[in-house]
Amino acid sequence: MIIFETLSELRAWRKELAQQGKTLAFVPTMGNLHEGHLTLVKEAHKRADVVITSIFVNPMQFGENEDLDAYPRTFEADCEKLKQNNNHAVFYPNVKDMYPNGLHAQTFVEVPDTEYSLIAESSQRPGHFRGVSTVVTKLFNMVQPDVAVFGEKDFQQLRIIRLMVEDLNMPIEIIGVPTVREESGLAKSSRNGYLTAEEKAVAPALNMALEQIKAALISGNNDIKLLTELGTQLIDEAGLKTDYIEIRHVKTLSPVDASTKDIVILGAAYLGKARLIDNLCFERQ
Ligand code: PAJ
Repeated sequence: MIIFETLSELRAWRKELAQQGKTLAFVPTMGNLHEGHLTLVKEAHKRADVVITSIFVNPMQFGENEDLDAYPRTFEADCEKLKQNNNHAVFYPNVKDMYPNGLHAQTFVEVPDTEYSLIAESSQRPGHFRGVSTVVTKLFNMVQPDVAVFGEKDFQQLRIIRLMVEDLNMPIEIIGVPTVREESGLAKSSRNGYLTAEEKAVAPALNMALEQIKAALISGNNDIKLLTELGTQLIDEAGLKTDYIEIRHVKTLSPVDASTKDIVILGAAYLGKARLIDNLCFERQ
């Protein structure tokens, strides 16, 4: 497995691949890799001849009071896992090379908020998606992949990347991969490492609450206010602190009514040092 720390090495390698007529699939990550990330790598293998993964904890997408400094950095262990999954190359840039003039002087990319999109992560983490869109654009320009693979776990992130690629005519196919979970239902996340054993035991309450809301919606309950309150109560009673629950149309993110068939339930909750997010997408008859 080749590791690139500089853009010039990466570009030379990319040029060679193009000359050999090989296609390239790209998995952007912030490292501390778990089964969720590795499932993206496996999917990437199905989509192209060669797979490259990036590891970069992107300061631009962290808010002032968020966990940038504490975010787990486990490069050696990550590379071992990537090797075991036959990943071909790792791009591991540093912050200075990525943002040579500092974050405030950086040209940015921002997907505008449409009528209903300013909910959930967009409203709770101002500037977060600007940081994501900007770094993903930069990484796309550096790696020049044919295909890029993202997790559905970050529902709004995936939606924003798709909109960005379409709006800016980026010649990259975006693939979404279903959320990988623990047996308990808890979505795998690098931030689960912040949880104590006791917290980990109650953490599945977020997913369980979303599942209960889903079951109610499927059985024809359309009292969105009540279902949102019920979900919040289930999460809070388990010992987490609900940040938000949103029940929305999966494409437009508009509020749902009795006629809405394609639904996403988005949820986030605080637990100890962690902030957990999850979502469920489904179709009802
Ligand atoms: P990170 O949180 O490291 O996640 C990297 C990719 O792994 C994302 O596409 C995310 O949705 C996916 N992922 C994480 N947990 C998953 C799970 N349990 N099941 C399936 N996929 C999962 O998301 C980011 O990094 C950053 O915002 C990034 C896109 C790299 C830009 O900095």
